[in-house]
Amino acid sequence: MNKSEIENRLHALRAQIIQHNNAYYVQDDPTISDAEYDALMLELQTLESEHPELVTADSPTQIVGAAPAQTFSSVTHGVPMLSLGNAFELEQVQAFDQRVSQTLRQSGLLQPDQDVEYFCELKLDGLAVNLRYVDSVLVQAATRGDGQTGEDVTANVKTITVIPQRLKQHVPGVLDVRGEVFIHHSDFEALNQAQTARGQRVFVNPRNAAAGSLRQLDARITAQRPLRFFAYGWGEVTDTLPETQGAVLQWLADLGLPVNLTQNRQVIGAQGLLDYYAQVTEERPKLDYDIDGVVYKVNALRAQHVLGYVSRAPRFALAHKFAAEEAMTRLLDIQLQVGRTGAVTPVARLEPVFVGGVTVTNATLHNEDEIARKDVRIGDWVTVRRAGDVIPEVVGPVLSKRPDDARSFVMPSTCPVCDSAIERPEGEAVARCTGGLFCPAQRKQSLIHAVSRKALDIDGLGEKLIDQLVEQGLIKNIADLYTLKLEDIVRLERMGQKSAENLLKAIEGAREPALGRLIFALGIRHVGETTATELARTFGSIEALMQADEATLLAVPDVGPVVAASIVRFFEEPHNREVVETLLSRNVRPKASEQQPVSVALQGLTFVLTGTLPSWTREEATQAILAAGGKVSGSVSKKTAYVVAGEEAGRKLEQAQTLGVSILDEDALKALLNRESD
Ligand code: IVH
Repeated sequence: MNKSEIENRLHALRAQIIQHNNAYYVQDDPTISDAEYDALMLELQTLESEHPELVTADSPTQIVGAAPAQTFSSVTHGVPMLSLGNAFELEQVQAFDQRVSQTLRQSGLLQPDQDVEYFCELKLDGLAVNLRYVDSVLVQAATRGDGQTGEDVTANVKTITVIPQRLKQHVPGVLDVRGEVFIHHSDFEALNQAQTARGQRVFVNPRNAAAGSLRQLDARITAQRPLRFFAYGWGEVTDTLPETQGAVLQWLADLGLPVNLTQNRQVIGAQGLLDYYAQVTEERPKLDYDIDGVVYKVNALRAQHVLGYVSRAPRFALAHKFAAEEAMTRLLDIQLQVGRTGAVTPVARLEPVFVGGVTVTNATLHNEDEIARKDVRIGDWVTVRRAGDVIPEVVGPVLSKRPDDARSFVMPSTCPVCDSAIERPEGEAVARCTGGLFCPAQRKQSLIHAVSRKALDIDGLGEKLIDQLVEQGLIKNIADLYTLKLEDIVRLERMGQKSAENLLKAIEGAREPALGRLIFALGIRHVGETTATELARTFGSIEALMQADEATLLAVPDVGPVVAASIVRFFEEPHNREVVETLLSRNVRPKASEQQPVSVALQGLTFVLTGTLPSWTREEATQAILAAGGKVSGSVSKKTAYVVAGEEAGRKLEQAQTLGVSILDEDALKALLNRESD
């Protein structure tokens, strides 16, 4: 680029960033993802560092955030509210530690063989505020604004119940406490539901909900919003501070301010920082609030002072950020996926985008109503979210970027795979293809289900292979599996002699499945693993189950009217009866559970498993409970007899505690099982 091109690029970048700052900080309605914003900022910083003569005083690199909105009066911060340098990679963290160590060694604050002591905190994804206490009384609260000047949100902050109006001890003069206002996930969901019910706009994410709630001109609205606060720093302070970051935060906690004491940690050296990062990464899915990284701060305030600041950020601190969980991309199309029971799910086909650490090309849109509620249209720019291992989902459209030709999605009236009618029963959210097993998509999905681990457990028979077998007309249902021949299989793509033989062996091995597994494999709607086991135990043979009427079925533990009707309907279908009869005629011999459960004492008791057990897998624990006559459920309710909790048990454990449900560890569960079978 020649000089004028560089100038043009700098100008364009600054204009764009200023606009995005305004959208983010003032309108609470960002139009690009954080990652895209970071990329623009990085380009600007790089260009400016290569051409320092072109840096202007009003460049976004020289100021933080955006000027305050006009609607609140402004507050000039006693000490500017700065930003933090970012790191995404391990090497950047190591380089930070090296810079810090070097400076501290040069200034004699660190011995040559010593490592730096750091204080680690979570980087909360909310909005920064300054709380001014004078002689221990909260007199003013302000947002960060552009770092120099923020908005006066005193009336709003005074409605936040966790923020003390008066400190627990006397602190003379000014104490500016800095921290983050945020909102819990559970409260965010409830808030959005209430917004929907009132016909008001829903918030895209908790950060925007927190910002939108705090920056209400009518503080009575803020008062209804469940805002939280954690303190992590300070501004102007008259009194003498303790000597370390950790000690200051402890002092703030003693004064009655909320501090995230359980998550903050003091560590040594770069390795200590990285260990903290790894631990937080693991615990992040369990937190009830959003964090976008962790913050490392040199612990000793003297050392912080010596390290000082560069332009808009301290040299003594670093934000180690997570890969963004939300990104924006184009919605290329909405296609339908047909599941085992005919449920037709709209799936978003996306322009590939890197989010939550992977490249995402498809995301779920749940159902037709959800698409309408979110007003997502084909051709839109959309926000995509992928948090942890959760299936990526489309959060919503970016309305400011909607192209003129974006078109609404219309659920077709016929199945895209088999052309049968699509029906949506009154009051149900899910539309279904009525083709049943005539529909190749349903056929494939039911076969995938039938051979899965908890059903017939046929190793080596994956989705791709089933696709081929169905497409070539080699199998139509599970009974056909047992007639497959070696010469049919070896002809398939990517199939060698050896793997074909192994597959046949695996199918042969499933010729005497446990009756419960076979019932589960049939894929009867509403019949899960537990119900299938229960049915096997009660009826002892598939023939007996086929003949049972609704009244008989209702006597089975775990079977209610919906399940009973579904089972009867399933066996009324001639095609389904035929599959079972063919199975039997092809010598598939289900094994009934040999006897009634050894113990009847576990009968009727429902267990819920949570967390990782020390020696048993979840599957093993489930089998043991089922075999002893108990039931296993996925959610805790008053009907739950026991919650079996392992390492890193989550919400279910909390629910058990709230509902007063007994909690067992693995040993206690085993003891119970042994006692019951004595
Ligand atoms: S310290 C001088 N600590 O991150 C240091 N900031 O880019 C100033 N944040 O706007 C910030 N958690 O809103 C600090 N534990 C934490 C934080 C934190 C979240 C936010 C803060 C600031 C931004 C810095």
